[in-house]
Amino acid sequence: MKIIFYEKNTDTGAWLRNFARELPEADVRVWEPGDTAPADYAVVWRAPRELFAHRPDLKAVFNLGAGVDAILDAERKEPGTLPRNAMLVRLEDSGMARQMVEYASYAVLRYMRRLDEYEALQREGRWEKLTQHARRDFTVGVLGLGVLGGEVARGLLALGVPVRGFSRTPKTIEGVDVYAGPERFDAFLDGAKMLINLLPHTPDTEGVLNARTFGRLAHGAYLVNVARGAHLVDDDLIAALDSGQLAAAMLDVFHTEPLPQAHPFWQHPRVSVTPHVSAETLREESVVQIAAKIRALARGEAISGIVDIARGY
Ligand code: NAP
Ligand code: GLV
Repeated sequence: MKIIFYEKNTDTGAWLRNFARELPEADVRVWEPGDTAPADYAVVWRAPRELFAHRPDLKAVFNLGAGVDAILDAERKEPGTLPRNAMLVRLEDSGMARQMVEYASYAVLRYMRRLDEYEALQREGRWEKLTQHARRDFTVGVLGLGVLGGEVARGLLALGVPVRGFSRTPKTIEGVDVYAGPERFDAFLDGAKMLINLLPHTPDTEGVLNARTFGRLAHGAYLVNVARGAHLVDDDLIAALDSGQLAAAMLDVFHTEPLPQAHPFWQHPRVSVTPHVSAETLREESVVQIAAKIRALARGEAISGIVDIARGY
């Protein structure tokens, strides 16, 4: 079996060594422009269109991330980008859920205990005690209850805060107040003290973090965006922070990455910026997952994590 691998900014040698260990029967090569030799599988992150061209034999494309928005956006703009017969498979957790729970838990503790404000007071040399937010009033809404959002919602229960979740289809998560479908969106938002976004970026979810959404949250609420920059209307966030409707935001993803130096988020005193690291793709876990799926496909078995291209995630 032949596998082509493409990820631009990584230690490709280390990936090949992991594949050699997990899938010794496979011939795995790093794809270079001009390589049109046959391949059964592609393992890629943000691959150029050329990689997929003239590969009718490709059985599956494994996306080295949970989000498939970049590859589906390319397909929408230039239909036929994805090989017609290949299924698109995304990473499912593979060590990302735990990282997301850590990031979200940190955000809840940081803002519920007002540690961001104490950091600002320290910079001014001021010894001042602030009233903590009451835990029972610190309702956290998790947007998206999939592989990552579901784990985040469950994980936050350990902090004792009320947790709500929003998804497209109904689901049951013990201890979490679940709202499903667009008609329940406002009820999900109403009065929440923190909104954590873990939706996939699709045409339906683009711009969902906007002035209307912020307006339904509690006054002085917090925003955490760990999904995609395209979910957020940047100017609406700045306006909501300026008006006090939002108290602060923790952002890991941006319309343009790296975040341009001139962007106001860098200097805003109530915006925390991290460089798309809330949940990184872990090499070992990812290779183990992909190798297991390739073996299952070879045995003719069904696998999970196949992207519904029409649905967009
Ligand atoms: P997932 O398992 O596909 O879950 C997506 C969730 O969103 C599902 O609960 C789905 O509802 C819900 N959803 C989708 N469209 C919706 C809509 N229009 N209205 C309401 N709910 C909707 O995805 P995941 O693995 O949890 O990953 C989520 C996203 O996290 C990725 O797409 C990626 O953008 C982002 N991410 C970011 C990082 C980072 O480092 N910043 C790392 C990994 C992933 P149903 O359950 O009803 O289908
Ligand atoms: C990272 O952003 C991912 O989608 O896995």
